[in-house]
Amino acid sequence: MKSIVIELQNVRKIYEAGVSKVYALNGVTMSVERGDFVAIMGPSGSGKSTLLNLIGCLDRPTEGRVIINGVDTANLSDKQLTELRRDTIGFIFQQYNLIPTLTAFENVELPMIFRGVAKSEREKRAKELLSLVGLEEEMHRRPMELSGGQQQRVAIARALANEPSILLCDEPTGNLDTRSGKAVMEIISKLNREGVTVVVVTHDPAIAAFAKRVVRIVDGVLVD
Ligand SMILES: Nc1ncnc2c1ncn2[C@@H]1O[C@H](COP(=O)(O)OP(=O)(O)O)[C@@H](O)[C@H]1O
Ligand SMILES: [Mg+2]
Repeated sequence: MKSIVIELQNVRKIYEAGVSKVYALNGVTMSVERGDFVAIMGPSGSGKSTLLNLIGCLDRPTEGRVIINGVDTANLSDKQLTELRRDTIGFIFQQYNLIPTLTAFENVELPMIFRGVAKSEREKRAKELLSLVGLEEEMHRRPMELSGGQQQRVAIARALANEPSILLCDEPTGNLDTRSGKAVMEIISKLNREGVTVVVVTHDPAIAAFAKRVVRIVDGVLVD
């Protein structure tokens, strides 16, 4: 049976910039089924990151509904929203966002510490995840001692720490050369084949080609 894991209904996000208003999203309705792999494509400033941040409950819409796994997020407190995010959603950003003072291993372990996973279990899982992304040898290095592609693979391992059912990626290969970018997308594709629902924001057609479906956005509106 197909089930909808992400549903947006008439979502608007309006930023107030002094006296003027920016309609970053202007009435977006979309849904994503479990196991889907969606690429959101659009030019710079079209609202892609805003859309992904709303799907990921990092922000709330000005109008409209964001429903994750059947739960209308408007009904959740900030604490409940944080828990939903922690337990359901993995994020990958263009800038990796690793903690520079921690090793790769410690970066992957961190979300499990926040979740209260026992030390032995989280150490085992951190090792497994780092070997999944091909970084067993490098796991005790800090981000500065890793290439961009390696750092992004650490970020993927970290995103998977709490076994998310949804993986959200904002320009995940934006800072990478073609070859490392392809390696990153192959890992993301593999995760999708194993059942993770993936939404990836990109302006690169080569990245969108990994997706099962492409959604286009222009000026905060989805277009066909
Ligand atoms: N925090 C913010 N405050 C004001 N305007 C914002 C903010 N975030 C984004 N915007 C504006 O909203 C629009 C969409 O931005 P964004 O979602 O980042 O686009 P994209 O990711 O497609 O480049 C842009 O015009 C941007 O300047
Ligand atoms: Mg963006």
